[in-house]
This record gives sequence, structure tokens and C-alpha cells, in this order.
Amino acid sequence: MQIEEHVPLASLTTFGIGGEARYFVRVRTVEGLRESLDFLRPGSGQGAQNKNAPVYILGGGSNTLVPDSGFEGLVIKIEIAGIEIQEERYKKGEDSVSNAKTETEENKTLVVVGAGESWDGLVQYAVEHGLWGLENLSGIPGTVGGAAWGNIGAYGASASQSVAWVEAYDRVQRELVRLDASLCAFGYRDSFFKQRASRYIITRVAFALSRVAQPNLVYKDLALRFATAQQSKITEQKTTSEVEVTIEQETEPTLANIRDAVLAIRREKFPDLAIEGTAGSFFKNPIVSKEVAAALVAKYPHMPTFALPEAAGVKIPLAWLLDQVLQLRGFSVGGARLFEHQPLVLVASRGASSADVRTLASEVQQKVSDAFGIRLEKEVQEMR
Ligand code: EPU
Repeated sequence: MQIEEHVPLASLTTFGIGGEARYFVRVRTVEGLRESLDFLRPGSGQGAQNKNAPVYILGGGSNTLVPDSGFEGLVIKIEIAGIEIQEERYKKGEDSVSNAKTETEENKTLVVVGAGESWDGLVQYAVEHGLWGLENLSGIPGTVGGAAWGNIGAYGASASQSVAWVEAYDRVQRELVRLDASLCAFGYRDSFFKQRASRYIITRVAFALSRVAQPNLVYKDLALRFATAQQSKITEQKTTSEVEVTIEQETEPTLANIRDAVLAIRREKFPDLAIEGTAGSFFKNPIVSKEVAAALVAKYPHMPTFALPEAAGVKIPLAWLLDQVLQLRGFSVGGARLFEHQPLVLVASRGASSADVRTLASEVQQKVSDAFGIRLEKEVQEMR
């Protein structure tokens, strides 16, 4: 374990902006994690002057905004590695009575993964090993720990659907705990660990994946790619160039084809991280009561809505409101702007400051509040 001082953080996040960490450490083992936390423990001889300095756990930095002034605490970058197929026939909820389980649930393969592994590296591994469950989540930047922490979701799937258990370091008891998925309180971009971020740090995640083909094409954009099963080609209007182009594509929803299709959709909707920074969706899609949703639909009959199985509310597509009602595509403050192809995605061009991002976010929050009376919640975490 080596604690570094005054470490620039910008290049460790996908936003690519912000200042330095006062203290910084890369952690590859649970022991290293414990030692790093001891650095801030009252009573431990050496270590930081300010024992109450905050700790920020960094994964792939794909959902983190670093302030321009940096972070006056300890940033712990989780680099715990390893992908291991542990059990070919994993039984979900081993301690529960099995007669309630279906055959497919019982024949899952358990893959145990270090929290610091790249999320997309894991998805690629699963696809190459014929394991179903993660393919719709292709191309999402970040780590496995971050994926479970924030329950990432896209294209009709969420990480929690495939999680078997999560192992985390408990900072209070100073030991590892293992929670079955049913105890992880997974919700829309939410988990037990996110709600108790100051206490638990995810170290490993186990996924229950399937060898049986289970294509999930519920998401419209994805379904469209495979809809023309009889045809080998479809013609699409390319929004960027406005020229008619013919895209040849595979139409069988195999693991590799679904991954390719998701990656292709993402290339159209997200900025190229090699050119400018982003953390994807900056806000959560708001969840409102059925009454509020009905009033919005009465006013905007073309607005889609999404029922939520896990909550009483209705999910409202913020991108739709920002685009179709407020016409905020490309809306900018300094070097920060709402992406032209997806206004929920906030991009930071080279030279942007975190203050630009914050000001833009506040202005968007204000406009949405004024127009719809909806209070937006940030999905991106501010380091503080
Ligand atoms: N829309 C517009 N105009 C636009 C873009 C979108 O009207 O310019 C409409 C779409 O037609 C659609 C709706 O807005 O009806 C929602 O858009 P989209 O399907 O692109 O998804 P989203 O709800 O904005 C969510 C996730 C993304 C995820 C996509 C795809 C959240 C906060 N975001 O976005 O996740 O990739 O679905 O599944 O739930 C992230 O969390 O960082 C993230 C990128």
C-alpha cells in the first residue's frame, strides 16, 4: 500500500475534469483496503494529519464529478482484480426451499468478479464464454463494483437482474460481509451499498449467468435492430449526416450480435470519450405519482411513460422533456453542454471546468422545476 499526495484526478474520471486528491491510494486486496482506511483512523500513529478527512471510493470514475478545487481527503481507487467461474450449476437462494425455483434459475453459472475489474471487460468475457445476462449492458464504462453499487441499467436490463451476491468491507465491524442479492435493496440506480456508502465498500460481486439463450429485446431501439429477421439489410436515416445509408447487420439475436447492436446504438447516442468527457446520464429519470404522470400525458400526449414494477410511481423520460418541450439539446454553460443526440447526457469539452458542469446542471434543474414542478435528482456523484 502506497499513499500518494496531491494526485491529479481528472484523467481517472470519464468527465476528464477537476482537481487533485490530497491523498490517493490504489488498492488491490482487502488487506490493502483495511490498511488504507487505517491511515485515517484516530489513534493510528502515522497517517493523515486530519483524521476526520473524508474518504471517496473511486472505481472507473465514470459517474464521478471532481470539484475544480480537488478533494481534501483520501481517494481509494479499487483495483481488486479477478474473474472466476466458480460453479457451473449455481442454485439461486441456496438456503431457500428450491421447489419455488424454475429450472433455468437453478442452472445458472456463478461468476465471481473483483470489484476493480472493468465492467465492459466482464461483459465481453461473459459473451465470449456463452454466458447470458450481461450483454445488454455492453459498452458501459466503469468497474464491476461501481456497477453493483449504482445498479447500472440500459437497454432493458439492469445489473441487479444478474447479481447473485455482493461482498463488501464493513468499515464499522472491520470485516467482510456477504449479502445475497435479495438483501442488496436494488432499485432504480440504487442499492443497499449506495445508501450506506460511508460504511460499506464493495470488494467482489458474484453474477448468476445462464448458458441457455435468453435474448432480451424489450428495449425499442434494440428490438428494431433485430426486427427485420427475414431481411439481411435495413436502411436507416443517419441523423448526423442526413444521408441515406444502408447498414448491413446480423439479425440473429446471438450473444455477440446483441453486444454488437448495443455498442452500435451507444456509438450513436453517446459522445466519443476520446474527444470529450461525460458521465452519461447526469440526472435520474424522475419518478412521479400516477396523478402527476397522467397530468403530464394529458398535456403532452406523445410523451412515453414507463411503469415501474418495484415502485408505485411512473418513470418519466427526462430526455424527452428536455428535448421535445424545453428544446435544450446543445444548451451550454462555458465548456459544458447537453449532448445534441441525447440531452440527458451532459458533456464537458476540453477546457471545461467542474463549475461549468455544476452551473449547467443547476440551470437545467431550475428549468425543469419551473416548467413541470419536478425536482431532479443527480445520478452523477460529486466528490466531497
Ligand atoms: N428522447 C428524445 N430526444 C432525445 C433523446 C431521447 O425525445 O434527444 C426520448 C426517447 O425517444 C425516449 C426517451 O427520451 O422515449 C428516453 O431516452 P433513451 O431511451 O435514450 O433513454 P434514457 O431514459 O434517457 C436511460 C438511462 C441510460 C441508458 C438508456 C438506454 C437513466 C438516467 N438513463 O436513458 O443510462 O443508457 O436509458 O437504456 O436511466 C446512465 O445511467 O448514465 C445512462 C446513460
